[in-house]
Amino acid sequence: MKRKYAIALVLFGVVLWSGYRLSLTEQVEELKMKPVAEVLETLGDEPLPHKPDLSVPGASAENGRDLVLYGSAFGPDGRLGKRISRHFVCTACHNVERDEPDLSLSDPIARLEYVAEKGLPYLQGSALYGIVNRTSFYNGDYYKKYGDLVSKARNDLREAIQLCATECSQGRPLEDWEMESVLAYLWTIGLKMDDLNLSDQDYQLIAEAKSQGRQSKAIATIKEKYLPGMPATFVPPPEDRKRNVPVSGDANRGKLIYELSCLHCHQDRRYSFFLLDSSQLSLQFLDKHFSKYDRYSVYQVVRYGTSPVPWKRAYMPQYTLEKLNDQMLEDLRTYLRQATM
Ligand code: HEC
Ligand code: HEC
Repeated sequence: MKRKYAIALVLFGVVLWSGYRLSLTEQVEELKMKPVAEVLETLGDEPLPHKPDLSVPGASAENGRDLVLYGSAFGPDGRLGKRISRHFVCTACHNVERDEPDLSLSDPIARLEYVAEKGLPYLQGSALYGIVNRTSFYNGDYYKKYGDLVSKARNDLREAIQLCATECSQGRPLEDWEMESVLAYLWTIGLKMDDLNLSDQDYQLIAEAKSQGRQSKAIATIKEKYLPGMPATFVPPPEDRKRNVPVSGDANRGKLIYELSCLHCHQDRRYSFFLLDSSQLSLQFLDKHFSKYDRYSVYQVVRYGTSPVPWKRAYMPQYTLEKLNDQMLEDLRTYLRQATM
């Protein structure tokens, strides 16, 4: 008789345990779809400061999307507002899709391969996808370029957007309804839990954190999986730039850089006056000037960018080391050289 009870008890236990496991699996599946910011808040983390104020007349996520993708939107008066910039839209320099395979690092070669696979361009600016999850902007060497303007923008997303609208885009500051709209849109492209490389164990920890009082551990586990700000290092062209043979570069990678980055702006003069395409003429031209000390030198424009011409106001942003490393610059050079031989 006793044995029967024991077996029944064990069976009952198994049923309970598997029910618990099942609900845990369900919880984990649900968790994967959730915005990272929401999960962090539920765990008791301090809410992010840059939530949109949708009580401002005219503010909406749809307007924000139009502003980011097309440069203007219909305002509270029902009329199409003036463009933020005559030359650029935000997506000239920033992807609105995720463009880093591992959000906890900044690895330009991995990023290039990732965007190539997804059919996205490869740009100097960091992705706006997930920007609402970051807390520090224009990091590293950007103060060298924008001076005091950076201090206001360093920990304030609104100020960071204004800095980009006026300086990076060479346009005008956003009005209140535009700013709140852009923020509302950016919140629709915040990180999802699924974007982070969390293991099953991590998910389990997060799902059970509240009941086990392990919230701070769960918060730390989540935050380890993405960068709170993008590093940025300015470097000069290589010292031996005059050497006229490219070092051993990877021409295929160079081709990707040329097509996914340079042509994004220069083909059909999309965001520039200077025209480039995949013809021998373009490639030869760039190869010839690559290491020279003139305005067409790729070393020069990639590492220093170009200054806005007063009556054109279009300029080329430089690539930081985190966005194009020295090896990639040689890869580009190798591609141009080989394609023209
Ligand atoms: C001509 C290129 C260009 C255009 C146009 C542009 N940006 Fe930027 N933006 C940059 C670069 C370069 C940075 C430097 C930091 C980075 O993104 O890693 C930057 C930085 C930012 C940052 C801070 C990012 C960070 O992680 O430090 C925000 C926010 C931003 N831009 C928003 C916008 C918005 C919104 C628009 C459109 C209104 C816009 N940008 C248009 C080039 C541009
Ligand atoms: C975000 C857009 C953008 C990207 C990406 C970009 N450029 Fe530019 N580039 C410009 C703009 C804008 C100018 C300023 C002059 C103009 O409008 O033509 C410029 C200027 C130049 C110039 C100097 C032209 C002159 O008339 O002085 C060269 C050379 C150049 N780019 C090459 C490249 C190469 C090579 C790449 C890829 C590694 C590249 N660009 C990527 C936008 C871009």
